[in-house]
Amino acid sequence: MDCAASEATPAPCLKPQGLVSLIDLVGGLSRALDLVSPAVVNHHNRVGFLASRLAAALGLPAAGQRDLLLAGLMHDSGALSLKSRLDALQFESDGAVHAQAGFRLIRTFARLDRVAELVRHHHRRFDCLTKTSPEALPEGNILALADRVDALISRNRPLGEQAEGIRRRIASKSGSTFSPLYVQAFLDISASPDFWDQAARPAEHLHTLAPERLETEALPLAEVREFSRLFSLIIDFRTRFTATHSRGVAHTAERLAQLAGFSDHESQRMRVAGNLHDLGKLAVSREILNKPGAPDANEWAMIKSHPGHSRQVLSAIAGLEDVCLWASSHHERMDGKGYPDGLAGQDIPLGSRVVAATDVFTAITEDRPYRAGMDAKRTRKVLEQFSGTALDADLVELLLDNMEEFNELRIEAQEQAIAEFNQVSLPEAEATCTSTT
Ligand SMILES: [Fe+2]
Ligand SMILES: [Fe+2]
Ligand SMILES: [Fe+2]
Repeated sequence: MDCAASEATPAPCLKPQGLVSLIDLVGGLSRALDLVSPAVVNHHNRVGFLASRLAAALGLPAAGQRDLLLAGLMHDSGALSLKSRLDALQFESDGAVHAQAGFRLIRTFARLDRVAELVRHHHRRFDCLTKTSPEALPEGNILALADRVDALISRNRPLGEQAEGIRRRIASKSGSTFSPLYVQAFLDISASPDFWDQAARPAEHLHTLAPERLETEALPLAEVREFSRLFSLIIDFRTRFTATHSRGVAHTAERLAQLAGFSDHESQRMRVAGNLHDLGKLAVSREILNKPGAPDANEWAMIKSHPGHSRQVLSAIAGLEDVCLWASSHHERMDGKGYPDGLAGQDIPLGSRVVAATDVFTAITEDRPYRAGMDAKRTRKVLEQFSGTALDADLVELLLDNMEEFNELRIEAQEQAIAEFNQVSLPEAEATCTSTT
Protein backbone atom coordinates (compact mmCIF):
# COMPACT_ATOMS: atom_id res chain seq x y z
CA MET A 1 0.00 0.00 0.00
CA ASP A 2 1.16 3.46 -0.73
CA CYS A 3 0.89 6.37 1.60
CA ALA A 4 2.24 9.41 -0.18
CA ALA A 5 3.70 12.21 1.88
CA SER A 6 2.09 15.64 1.75
CA GLU A 7 3.71 19.00 2.29
CA ALA A 8 2.39 19.14 5.85
CA THR A 9 3.40 15.57 6.57
CA PRO A 10 6.91 14.72 5.42
CA ALA A 11 6.94 11.27 6.95
CA PRO A 12 5.25 8.63 4.77
CA CYS A 13 3.54 5.62 6.32
CA LEU A 14 5.87 2.63 6.33
CA LYS A 15 5.47 -1.04 5.51
CA PRO A 16 3.67 -3.20 8.09
CA GLN A 17 5.96 -4.99 10.53
CA GLY A 18 3.55 -6.52 13.03
CA LEU A 19 4.18 -5.91 16.71
CA VAL A 20 4.04 -2.49 18.34
CA SER A 21 6.67 -1.62 20.90
CA LEU A 22 5.37 0.10 24.01
CA ILE A 23 8.06 2.77 23.96
CA ASP A 24 7.29 3.57 20.30
CA LEU A 25 3.58 3.84 21.05
CA VAL A 26 3.91 5.96 24.18
CA GLY A 27 6.74 8.06 22.71
CA GLY A 28 4.76 8.71 19.52
CA LEU A 29 1.59 9.62 21.27
CA SER A 30 3.43 11.83 23.75
CA ARG A 31 4.59 13.87 20.76
CA ALA A 32 0.91 14.21 19.86
CA LEU A 33 0.18 15.61 23.34
CA ASP A 34 2.79 18.28 22.72
CA LEU A 35 1.11 19.40 19.48
CA VAL A 36 -1.36 21.50 21.46
CA SER A 37 0.94 24.52 21.63
CA PRO A 38 4.45 25.67 20.69
CA ALA A 39 4.76 26.54 24.39
CA VAL A 40 4.79 22.86 25.33
CA VAL A 41 6.96 21.52 22.51
CA ASN A 42 9.01 18.57 23.69
CA HIS A 43 7.65 18.81 27.24
CA HIS A 44 6.71 15.14 27.55
CA ASN A 45 9.78 13.86 25.79
CA ARG A 46 12.05 16.03 27.91
CA VAL A 47 10.40 15.08 31.20
CA GLY A 48 10.72 11.41 30.17
CA PHE A 49 14.38 11.99 29.36
CA LEU A 50 15.09 13.80 32.64
CA ALA A 51 13.17 11.35 34.82
CA SER A 52 14.87 8.30 33.33
CA ARG A 53 18.34 9.92 33.53
CA LEU A 54 17.68 10.63 37.21
CA ALA A 55 16.38 7.09 37.77
CA ALA A 56 19.54 5.63 36.23
CA ALA A 57 21.80 7.96 38.25
CA LEU A 58 20.00 6.92 41.43
CA GLY A 59 20.56 3.25 40.60
CA LEU A 60 16.87 2.35 40.37
CA PRO A 61 16.21 -1.13 38.99
CA ALA A 62 15.25 -1.50 35.31
CA ALA A 63 11.54 -1.71 36.17
CA GLY A 64 11.71 1.60 38.03
CA GLN A 65 13.59 3.25 35.17
CA ARG A 66 10.98 1.98 32.73
CA ASP A 67 8.11 3.29 34.83
CA LEU A 68 9.67 6.74 35.18
CA LEU A 69 10.43 7.05 31.49
CA LEU A 70 6.84 6.12 30.57
CA ALA A 71 5.41 8.34 33.32
CA GLY A 72 7.45 11.28 32.00
CA LEU A 73 6.10 10.66 28.51
CA MET A 74 2.47 10.65 29.69
CA HIS A 75 2.39 12.68 32.87
CA ASP A 76 0.18 15.56 31.68
CA SER A 77 -2.25 13.43 29.70
CA GLY A 78 -4.92 14.36 32.25
CA ALA A 79 -4.65 18.01 31.24
CA LEU A 80 -7.26 17.66 28.54
CA SER A 81 -7.35 21.26 27.42
CA LEU A 82 -4.72 23.70 26.23
CA LYS A 83 -5.43 25.98 29.17
CA SER A 84 -4.65 23.31 31.71
CA ARG A 85 -1.58 22.26 29.67
CA LEU A 86 -0.24 25.81 29.85
CA ASP A 87 -1.11 26.05 33.54
CA ALA A 88 0.74 22.79 34.11
CA LEU A 89 3.89 24.37 32.72
CA GLN A 90 3.89 27.22 35.21
CA PHE A 91 6.42 26.67 37.95
CA GLU A 92 3.88 27.79 40.55
CA SER A 93 1.24 25.49 39.14
CA ASP A 94 -1.05 23.51 41.37
CA GLY A 95 -1.48 20.39 39.32
CA ALA A 96 -3.71 18.38 41.64
CA VAL A 97 -6.60 18.13 39.22
CA HIS A 98 -4.76 17.08 36.07
CA ALA A 99 -2.40 14.80 37.99
CA GLN A 100 -5.33 12.90 39.36
CA ALA A 101 -7.16 12.89 36.02
CA GLY A 102 -4.00 11.50 34.39
CA PHE A 103 -3.76 8.84 37.08
CA ARG A 104 -7.33 7.80 36.52
CA LEU A 105 -6.87 7.77 32.75
CA ILE A 106 -3.64 5.76 32.74
CA ARG A 107 -4.63 3.26 35.42
CA THR A 108 -7.34 1.91 33.13
CA PHE A 109 -4.48 0.36 31.18
CA ALA A 110 -3.34 -2.52 33.43
CA ARG A 111 0.24 -2.63 32.16
CA LEU A 112 0.78 0.94 33.33
CA ASP A 113 -0.54 0.71 36.91
CA ARG A 114 2.73 1.84 38.53
CA VAL A 115 3.16 4.50 35.86
CA ALA A 116 -0.29 5.80 36.83
CA GLU A 117 0.76 6.00 40.50
CA LEU A 118 3.80 8.07 39.57
CA VAL A 119 1.68 10.42 37.47
CA ARG A 120 -0.75 10.81 40.37
CA HIS A 121 1.93 12.44 42.51
CA HIS A 122 3.88 14.41 39.93
CA HIS A 123 2.88 17.73 41.52
CA ARG A 124 3.21 16.56 45.13
CA ARG A 125 5.82 18.25 47.31
CA PHE A 126 8.45 16.09 49.00
CA ASP A 127 7.85 17.60 52.45
CA CYS A 128 4.24 16.49 52.51
CA LEU A 129 4.32 13.50 50.21
CA THR A 130 4.89 10.96 52.98
CA LYS A 131 2.67 12.87 55.43
CA THR A 132 -0.42 13.04 53.26
CA SER A 133 0.10 10.04 50.97
CA PRO A 134 2.07 7.34 52.77
CA GLU A 135 1.04 4.93 50.03
CA ALA A 136 2.68 7.07 47.33
CA LEU A 137 5.72 5.85 45.44
CA PRO A 138 8.61 8.10 46.53
CA GLU A 139 9.79 8.09 42.91
CA GLY A 140 6.83 10.33 42.09
CA ASN A 141 9.03 13.11 43.42
CA ILE A 142 11.65 12.30 40.72
CA LEU A 143 8.94 12.92 38.16
CA ALA A 144 7.98 16.16 39.93
CA LEU A 145 11.60 17.33 39.78
CA ALA A 146 11.96 16.43 36.08
CA ASP A 147 8.67 18.20 35.33
CA ARG A 148 9.73 21.38 37.09
CA VAL A 149 13.14 21.41 35.37
CA ASP A 150 11.39 21.52 32.03
CA ALA A 151 8.92 24.12 33.31
CA LEU A 152 11.90 26.37 34.04
CA ILE A 153 13.26 26.07 30.49
CA SER A 154 12.54 28.99 28.20
CA ARG A 155 11.77 27.84 24.64
CA ASN A 156 13.32 31.06 23.28
CA ARG A 157 16.90 30.81 24.54
CA PRO A 158 19.69 28.24 24.10
CA LEU A 159 19.42 25.63 26.84
CA GLY A 160 23.10 25.79 27.77
CA GLU A 161 22.69 29.45 28.79
CA GLN A 162 19.92 28.51 31.20
CA ALA A 163 21.61 25.58 32.90
CA GLU A 164 23.11 27.35 35.88
CA GLY A 165 19.94 29.27 36.70
CA ILE A 166 17.88 26.09 36.60
CA ARG A 167 20.37 24.20 38.78
CA ARG A 168 20.28 27.02 41.35
CA ARG A 169 16.49 27.13 41.39
CA ILE A 170 16.14 23.37 41.87
CA ALA A 171 18.85 23.35 44.56
CA SER A 172 16.90 26.02 46.48
CA LYS A 173 13.96 23.59 46.74
CA SER A 174 15.98 20.76 48.27
CA GLY A 175 14.27 19.32 51.34
CA SER A 176 11.05 21.23 50.70
CA THR A 177 9.64 20.64 47.25
CA PHE A 178 12.12 17.92 46.28
CA SER A 179 13.93 15.13 48.09
CA PRO A 180 17.54 16.16 48.88
CA LEU A 181 18.64 12.81 47.44
CA TYR A 182 16.96 13.53 44.10
CA VAL A 183 18.20 17.12 44.01
CA GLN A 184 21.77 15.96 44.56
CA ALA A 185 21.42 13.39 41.75
CA PHE A 186 20.15 16.15 39.46
CA LEU A 187 23.00 18.47 40.38
CA ASP A 188 25.49 15.66 39.72
CA ILE A 189 24.23 14.72 36.26
CA SER A 190 23.46 18.27 35.15
CA ALA A 191 26.99 19.53 35.86
CA SER A 192 28.09 18.32 32.42
CA PRO A 193 27.40 20.33 29.22
CA ASP A 194 26.70 16.97 27.49
CA PHE A 195 23.65 16.54 29.69
CA TRP A 196 22.17 19.80 28.44
CA ASP A 197 23.09 19.01 24.83
CA GLN A 198 21.06 15.83 25.12
CA ALA A 199 18.24 17.57 27.00
CA ALA A 200 17.92 19.97 24.05
CA ARG A 201 17.01 17.03 21.78
CA PRO A 202 15.30 14.56 24.10
CA ALA A 203 13.46 12.54 21.44
CA GLU A 204 16.77 11.42 19.94
CA HIS A 205 17.81 9.88 23.21
CA LEU A 206 14.69 8.05 24.34
CA HIS A 207 15.70 4.71 22.87
CA THR A 208 19.15 4.84 24.40
CA LEU A 209 17.57 5.61 27.77
CA ALA A 210 15.04 2.82 27.77
CA PRO A 211 16.26 -0.12 29.80
CA GLU A 212 16.48 -3.39 27.89
CA ARG A 213 13.25 -4.58 29.42
CA LEU A 214 11.34 -1.69 27.85
CA GLU A 215 13.15 -1.93 24.51
CA THR A 216 11.72 -5.41 24.03
CA GLU A 217 8.28 -4.76 25.52
CA ALA A 218 5.83 -5.20 22.67
CA LEU A 219 2.06 -5.04 22.81
CA PRO A 220 -0.43 -7.55 21.43
CA LEU A 221 -3.23 -6.13 19.33
CA ALA A 222 -5.75 -6.26 22.20
CA GLU A 223 -3.57 -3.89 24.23
CA VAL A 224 -2.93 -1.59 21.28
CA ARG A 225 -6.71 -1.32 21.00
CA GLU A 226 -6.98 -0.53 24.71
CA PHE A 227 -4.29 2.10 24.41
CA SER A 228 -6.05 3.72 21.47
CA ARG A 229 -9.27 3.75 23.50
CA LEU A 230 -7.51 5.64 26.25
CA PHE A 231 -6.15 8.09 23.72
CA SER A 232 -9.53 8.66 22.08
CA LEU A 233 -10.67 10.21 25.37
CA ILE A 234 -7.78 12.68 25.25
CA ILE A 235 -8.51 13.59 21.62
CA ASP A 236 -12.27 13.94 21.92
CA PHE A 237 -12.79 15.73 25.16
CA ARG A 238 -10.97 18.86 24.07
CA THR A 239 -14.16 19.96 22.40
CA ARG A 240 -17.72 19.62 23.57
CA PHE A 241 -18.90 19.43 19.95
CA THR A 242 -17.40 16.02 19.33
CA ALA A 243 -16.89 14.65 22.82
CA THR A 244 -17.36 10.98 21.94
CA HIS A 245 -16.92 11.13 18.17
CA SER A 246 -13.80 8.97 17.79
CA ARG A 247 -15.30 6.15 19.83
CA GLY A 248 -18.38 6.09 17.61
CA VAL A 249 -16.19 5.99 14.50
CA ALA A 250 -13.96 3.26 16.00
CA HIS A 251 -16.76 0.80 16.66
CA THR A 252 -18.73 1.43 13.49
CA ALA A 253 -15.55 1.32 11.37
CA GLU A 254 -14.65 -2.06 12.84
CA ARG A 255 -18.08 -3.43 11.94
CA LEU A 256 -18.09 -1.89 8.45
CA ALA A 257 -14.65 -3.39 7.82
CA GLN A 258 -16.00 -6.84 8.73
CA LEU A 259 -18.92 -6.43 6.34
CA ALA A 260 -16.59 -5.16 3.61
CA GLY A 261 -14.49 -8.33 3.76
CA PHE A 262 -11.57 -7.34 5.98
CA SER A 263 -10.22 -10.18 8.14
CA ASP A 264 -11.02 -10.22 11.87
CA HIS A 265 -7.48 -9.09 12.63
CA GLU A 266 -7.70 -6.18 10.18
CA SER A 267 -11.13 -5.21 11.47
CA GLN A 268 -9.79 -5.00 15.01
CA ARG A 269 -6.99 -2.77 13.77
CA MET A 270 -9.66 -0.64 12.10
CA ARG A 271 -10.98 0.13 15.57
CA VAL A 272 -7.54 1.51 16.44
CA ALA A 273 -7.64 3.67 13.30
CA GLY A 274 -11.08 4.97 14.29
CA ASN A 275 -9.94 5.84 17.79
CA LEU A 276 -6.89 7.70 16.47
CA HIS A 277 -8.14 9.15 13.17
CA ASP A 278 -8.50 12.68 14.56
CA LEU A 279 -5.31 12.55 16.61
CA GLY A 280 -4.01 15.53 14.61
CA LYS A 281 -6.84 17.66 16.03
CA LEU A 282 -4.65 18.03 19.11
CA ALA A 283 -2.76 20.54 16.94
CA VAL A 284 -5.93 22.58 16.31
CA SER A 285 -6.78 25.09 19.02
CA ARG A 286 -9.87 24.55 21.13
CA GLU A 287 -11.05 28.03 20.16
CA ILE A 288 -11.26 26.91 16.53
CA LEU A 289 -12.70 23.50 17.38
CA ASN A 290 -15.34 25.10 19.62
CA LYS A 291 -16.22 28.03 17.35
CA PRO A 292 -19.97 27.98 16.84
CA GLY A 293 -20.00 29.63 13.39
CA ALA A 294 -18.21 28.80 10.16
CA PRO A 295 -14.38 28.92 10.34
CA ASP A 296 -12.58 31.67 8.41
CA ALA A 297 -9.92 30.83 5.80
CA ASN A 298 -7.04 30.57 8.27
CA GLU A 299 -9.08 28.53 10.72
CA TRP A 300 -10.19 26.23 7.94
CA ALA A 301 -6.55 25.72 6.90
CA MET A 302 -5.74 24.76 10.51
CA ILE A 303 -8.61 22.29 10.61
CA LYS A 304 -7.56 20.77 7.29
CA SER A 305 -4.07 20.18 8.65
CA HIS A 306 -5.29 17.59 11.17
CA PRO A 307 -5.01 14.41 9.04
CA GLY A 308 -1.44 15.45 8.17
CA HIS A 309 -0.60 15.73 11.85
CA SER A 310 -2.20 12.35 12.50
CA ARG A 311 0.03 10.93 9.78
CA GLN A 312 3.14 12.58 11.15
CA VAL A 313 2.62 11.06 14.58
CA LEU A 314 1.40 7.62 13.51
CA SER A 315 4.01 7.11 10.79
CA ALA A 316 6.70 7.16 13.48
CA ILE A 317 5.16 4.15 15.27
CA ALA A 318 6.47 0.94 13.72
CA GLY A 319 3.74 -1.70 13.52
CA LEU A 320 0.89 0.80 13.02
CA GLU A 321 1.49 1.37 9.31
CA ASP A 322 -1.97 0.25 8.20
CA VAL A 323 -3.58 2.28 10.98
CA CYS A 324 -1.54 5.31 9.88
CA LEU A 325 -2.71 4.88 6.32
CA TRP A 326 -6.39 4.38 7.16
CA ALA A 327 -6.48 7.15 9.74
CA SER A 328 -4.59 9.84 7.87
CA SER A 329 -6.55 9.64 4.59
CA HIS A 330 -10.04 9.80 6.12
CA HIS A 331 -10.82 13.18 4.53
CA GLU A 332 -10.06 12.08 0.98
CA ARG A 333 -13.14 12.00 -1.26
CA MET A 334 -14.06 9.66 -4.12
CA ASP A 335 -14.31 12.66 -6.50
CA GLY A 336 -10.76 13.79 -5.64
CA LYS A 337 -11.89 16.96 -3.85
CA GLY A 338 -10.76 15.84 -0.42
CA TYR A 339 -7.55 16.39 1.55
CA PRO A 340 -4.67 16.21 2.34
CA ASP A 341 -3.58 14.54 -0.94
CA GLY A 342 -6.59 14.94 -3.25
CA LEU A 343 -6.65 11.20 -3.97
CA ALA A 344 -9.63 9.89 -5.94
CA GLY A 345 -11.61 6.64 -6.28
CA GLN A 346 -9.63 3.42 -5.94
CA ASP A 347 -6.44 5.38 -5.20
CA ILE A 348 -7.87 5.99 -1.75
CA PRO A 349 -7.03 2.94 0.38
CA LEU A 350 -10.17 0.91 1.14
CA GLY A 351 -9.49 1.18 4.87
CA SER A 352 -9.48 4.97 4.60
CA ARG A 353 -12.78 4.83 2.76
CA VAL A 354 -14.18 2.75 5.64
CA VAL A 355 -13.07 5.37 8.18
CA ALA A 356 -14.43 8.16 5.96
CA ALA A 357 -17.86 6.52 5.64
CA THR A 358 -18.22 5.84 9.38
CA ASP A 359 -16.81 9.29 10.19
CA VAL A 360 -19.66 10.88 8.22
CA PHE A 361 -22.23 8.42 9.56
CA THR A 362 -21.19 9.10 13.16
CA ALA A 363 -21.00 12.87 12.63
CA ILE A 364 -24.51 13.18 11.24
CA THR A 365 -26.23 10.77 13.63
CA GLU A 366 -24.62 11.87 16.93
CA ASP A 367 -26.16 14.64 19.00
CA ARG A 368 -24.10 17.83 19.27
CA PRO A 369 -24.67 20.80 21.56
CA TYR A 370 -25.98 22.92 18.69
CA ARG A 371 -28.18 20.31 17.01
CA ALA A 372 -29.72 16.88 17.48
CA GLY A 373 -28.44 13.93 15.48
CA MET A 374 -30.31 13.12 12.27
CA ASP A 375 -33.08 10.54 12.27
CA ALA A 376 -32.93 7.46 10.04
CA LYS A 377 -34.77 9.04 7.12
CA ARG A 378 -32.56 12.11 6.97
CA THR A 379 -29.40 10.05 7.52
CA ARG A 380 -30.34 7.85 4.59
CA LYS A 381 -30.89 10.88 2.38
CA VAL A 382 -27.54 12.47 3.24
CA LEU A 383 -25.61 9.23 2.79
CA GLU A 384 -27.25 8.70 -0.59
CA GLN A 385 -26.19 12.23 -1.61
CA PHE A 386 -22.60 11.48 -0.61
CA SER A 387 -22.54 8.05 -2.27
CA GLY A 388 -19.97 7.99 -5.09
CA THR A 389 -19.02 11.67 -4.65
CA ALA A 390 -17.55 11.91 -1.16
CA LEU A 391 -17.98 8.30 -0.03
CA ASP A 392 -17.48 4.86 -1.52
CA ALA A 393 -20.85 3.75 -2.96
CA ASP A 394 -20.44 0.09 -1.90
CA LEU A 395 -19.65 1.06 1.66
CA VAL A 396 -22.62 3.44 1.78
CA GLU A 397 -24.83 0.59 0.64
CA LEU A 398 -23.54 -1.59 3.50
CA LEU A 399 -24.25 1.22 5.95
CA LEU A 400 -27.76 1.74 4.60
CA ASP A 401 -28.57 -1.98 4.59
CA ASN A 402 -27.54 -2.29 8.25
CA MET A 403 -28.32 1.18 9.53
CA GLU A 404 -30.16 0.15 12.69
CA GLU A 405 -27.30 -2.10 13.78
CA PHE A 406 -24.73 0.62 13.07
CA ASN A 407 -26.70 3.18 15.01
CA GLU A 408 -27.08 0.92 18.05
CA LEU A 409 -23.38 0.15 17.93
CA ARG A 410 -22.52 3.85 17.76
CA ILE A 411 -24.83 4.81 20.64
CA GLU A 412 -23.50 2.04 22.87
CA ALA A 413 -19.87 2.95 22.16
CA GLN A 414 -20.44 6.65 22.77
CA GLU A 415 -22.33 6.05 26.02
CA GLN A 416 -19.42 3.94 27.19
CA ALA A 417 -16.99 6.76 26.31
CA ILE A 418 -19.02 9.25 28.37
CA ALA A 419 -18.99 6.88 31.35
CA GLU A 420 -15.21 6.50 31.04
CA PHE A 421 -14.69 10.22 30.78
CA ASN A 422 -16.79 10.85 33.89
CA GLN A 423 -14.63 8.32 35.73
CA VAL A 424 -11.51 10.17 34.67
CA SER A 425 -12.59 13.76 35.05
CA LEU A 426 -14.49 13.79 38.32
CA PRO A 427 -11.69 13.42 40.83
CA GLU A 428 -12.32 12.41 44.42
CA ALA A 429 -11.14 14.71 47.17
CA GLU A 430 -7.39 14.22 47.51
CA ALA A 431 -4.95 15.41 50.09
CA THR A 432 -3.86 18.99 49.47
CA CYS A 433 -0.25 20.09 49.51
CA THR A 434 0.20 19.43 45.81
CA SER A 435 1.92 22.53 44.51
CA THR A 436 5.53 21.79 43.58
CA THR A 437 6.79 25.22 44.44
FE1 LIG B 1 1.66 18.26 35.35
FE1 LIG C 1 4.23 18.61 33.01
FE1 LIG D 1 -11.15 14.28 10.79
